[in-house]
Amino acid sequence: MLDHYISVRKQTENFCSPLSIEDYTPQVVLHASPMKWQLGHTTWFFETFILKKYVEEYQEFDAQFSYLFNSYYNNVGDRIARNNRGVLTRPSVEEVYAYRTHVDQHILSLFQNEQPKELLDLLEIGINHEEQHQELMVTDLKLLFFSHPFKTTYKENGSLLEDKVHYFNEWVDIDEGIYEIGYKGDQFSYDNEQGKHKVYLHNYSIAKDLVCNEDFMAFIEDGGYQRFDLWLDEGWSWVQENQINAPLYWEKRNEEWYQFTLGGMKKVNPKAILSHINFYEAEAFARWKGMRLPTEFEWEVAADKFEWGKRWEWTNSAYLPYPGFKTADGALGEYNGKFMINTMVLRGSSVATSPNHSRKTYRNFFHPHYRWQYAGIRLAKSL
Ligand SMILES: [Fe+2]
Repeated sequence: MLDHYISVRKQTENFCSPLSIEDYTPQVVLHASPMKWQLGHTTWFFETFILKKYVEEYQEFDAQFSYLFNSYYNNVGDRIARNNRGVLTRPSVEEVYAYRTHVDQHILSLFQNEQPKELLDLLEIGINHEEQHQELMVTDLKLLFFSHPFKTTYKENGSLLEDKVHYFNEWVDIDEGIYEIGYKGDQFSYDNEQGKHKVYLHNYSIAKDLVCNEDFMAFIEDGGYQRFDLWLDEGWSWVQENQINAPLYWEKRNEEWYQFTLGGMKKVNPKAILSHINFYEAEAFARWKGMRLPTEFEWEVAADKFEWGKRWEWTNSAYLPYPGFKTADGALGEYNGKFMINTMVLRGSSVATSPNHSRKTYRNFFHPHYRWQYAGIRLAKSL
């Protein structure tokens, strides 16, 4: 696990190699965090939950950092307001890297010796936490560069949006019956996916392919963003209030669609997999097709029968606790459980997800209006 720790920590810093010092600090929206803050926060996680708790003689790197880099853990104490993460011109980027080195040295020396399972579990959560942030770093940087008047490029050839849909229009039929949902095993899993339990599913069919850009262009051309009958009420309000007429990052130039990518503005490839849409758009599109989104249970039951991993896939399931779910005591009980309100489940993983981070029982969740993740659509229909 120590090798995994080292490689994940290194990978985080690799994401920063194309950045200028100025790129590390700004925060463009409430839900996206600056790179400097994420470098500090992922380090704070190991320092707070392992070093400060289990290493007696441990000296924290800087007593102010807990206030600056605590994200949402009320158990740990007061913290900077989420919308103020971009004002952290201090500490310097250099100091944040020194903080990472300090914590890495102590973690490595602690785990040189055999440690109890409780500590190994915490290390594993910390590694998985940093992997989750690696994906956020990609998506948050993308939003930052998009916000620049000249739409800065992160990396030439770094698009991440070129994967094409196979498009055989194949469907997987699943028979009605009782199925088991949730994780049980001895590999890492989050508390929100544990608690294997039974659900009853009716006959349904689920698409093998994800929806591609061409499909969504047809929706737009058919007035999809102007037709209230296709939208949930909340979704329709969102469209009107924000004057939405295309997926995030799309722009029409001379009658052709372009999209912002990490490699700059590129023509939208009609055959590539659709990305950067929110739950409202996914739901409206499915309705326009005369179909629906799968529930998270339908998705999990069928997951071995199709390829997944290119886009997070919106499901028609609210993010709720599984039967028997209990919030763990202490700060780490705040990791997942307290967000089980007003969010929808996404399944799978995306091109921006860290390798091997996801699994078929993994439950990602976001508010229905967020579009900055690499999220797309898999259609389903009742039989
Ligand atoms: Fe976090």
